[in-house]
Amino acid sequence: MTKSYGENLLARIWIVIGAVSVRVKIMGIVIIGTLMLSVTLALQMRASVTRLMNQQLESRGISITRDLAARATDEILVNDFYDLRQLLVETQANNPDVIYAFVLDPNGNILAHTFGEGFPVGLASANWVEPTQHHHTLLFDSGQGLVWDIAVPIFNGRVGTARIGLSEAAIAKNIFILTSQVLLTTIFVLVIGLIAAAFLVYLVSRPITELVAATRAVAQGDFTPRVRRWADDEIGELADAFNAMTSELARSDEIRREREVLRRQLLEGVIAAQEDERRRISRELHDSTAQNLTSLMVGLKNMDTICDNAQVRVQAQDLRAITGQVLEDVHNIAFQLRPTVLDDLGLPAAIERLVHEWQKRCQISVDSVVHLGGKRLPENVETALYRIIQEALTNVSRHAHARSVSVLVERRTNEVVAVVEDNGKGLDPADLAVDRLGVAGMRERAELLSGKMTIESAPGSGTSLFIQIPIPYTEGENA
Ligand SMILES: Nc1ncnc2c1ncn2[C@@H]1O[C@H](COP(=O)(O)OP(=O)(O)OP(=O)(O)O)[C@@H](O)[C@H]1O
Ligand SMILES: [Mg+2]
Repeated sequence: MTKSYGENLLARIWIVIGAVSVRVKIMGIVIIGTLMLSVTLALQMRASVTRLMNQQLESRGISITRDLAARATDEILVNDFYDLRQLLVETQANNPDVIYAFVLDPNGNILAHTFGEGFPVGLASANWVEPTQHHHTLLFDSGQGLVWDIAVPIFNGRVGTARIGLSEAAIAKNIFILTSQVLLTTIFVLVIGLIAAAFLVYLVSRPITELVAATRAVAQGDFTPRVRRWADDEIGELADAFNAMTSELARSDEIRREREVLRRQLLEGVIAAQEDERRRISRELHDSTAQNLTSLMVGLKNMDTICDNAQVRVQAQDLRAITGQVLEDVHNIAFQLRPTVLDDLGLPAAIERLVHEWQKRCQISVDSVVHLGGKRLPENVETALYRIIQEALTNVSRHAHARSVSVLVERRTNEVVAVVEDNGKGLDPADLAVDRLGVAGMRERAELLSGKMTIESAPGSGTSLFIQIPIPYTEGENA
């Protein structure tokens, strides 16, 4: 389902908000919140106060004009225009926001006014009040601000009309002052708000920063860091929970390490016992069984030579052939269990024998280079390398369908390196399932000696096994 534009916009806003730090978020909320509150308040207040002041200005203007109309009646009736003008001037002087005042006769002719030089054209006819009306108000822009023009009929219009103009300038000035005060208060509140927010951010982020650093350390496997409980609030509880978790993790890690040590010791014991047992059986087969079989063969040969009975001689020959086969099988079994050459002559000779036998049996060409210098490797390293190479070659014969294999064993400064490379079908990592023991066993043997084994392979391009096992540095032994 495609998302609407609104949903996309929301998702984008959420991404942007999510990307900024908590500090920016809190500061942003304070700034936006304060500004929105004060701008809304300022606008609302401005509108209300303007409306109220305008109403007051208009009603004050009406009462001034009505008072003027009442007081002007006598002067107009006696045609005393001097006093009439004086009355207008006085009215203007008593009310600073009255910017002009004038009186018209019933025909609209100006009887007196407060304009020094010249009466503005069109002003007289701009606002007209019916004799029956109480007053009439006109709001117009004079070019220097809004003006309320109020007309009131004098003596029901029979004597004329009184007009005054009230300027809104004073109101505008007051509103400007009010708005400025609101804005100043806003800035003040904003500064206080930001200081409070910065303090809040500091209070919140300080333990969080510490928690992040401690969590990173835990992720690296270091369970020692503990965080301070800064306050008795939710973050304090989080710190307690974190500390409890790291203590538990440290305890579990300790148990895991102890178990790992035990497992390794057990494994080393099992492998050593297995090798000892193999060595013992192999020796037994080689030294006893094979010797006895050889004696048997010699006896059968003697029988064949000294016996005159042709039937017995044929049987003796058959038995000799069978005994010879059994002898070879015993040799093979003894060799596979543990070649005596490994104990007696060392790894290079044992690998040479192993490769030779394997090549003969599997009909796959092997190119082997063993470069270990004069001195023998530690016995457990020799055994591990021999077993790893033995399993690697078994795997090649069982799975790889390779035409050739190369085996390299080389001693370097602080390690011995073995590489077994075939040009077979390659290895799929999915084949290294948990129920398979060969590869896992090879890796285990290398790791027990603090070494490692890596496999490089791609379908169709063969498989390479790299084994590295550290050995103590011995001067003059690196070839
Ligand atoms: N040289 C190789 N070329 C191709 N595939 C290989 C090679 N070596 C191992 N494999 C694949 O990796 C799998 C795992 O090998 P591993 O030696 O662990 O088990 P396995 O030989 O099948 O059984 P075992 O536990 O008896 O050794 C094999 O089943 C095989 O599919
Ligand atoms: Mg295998």
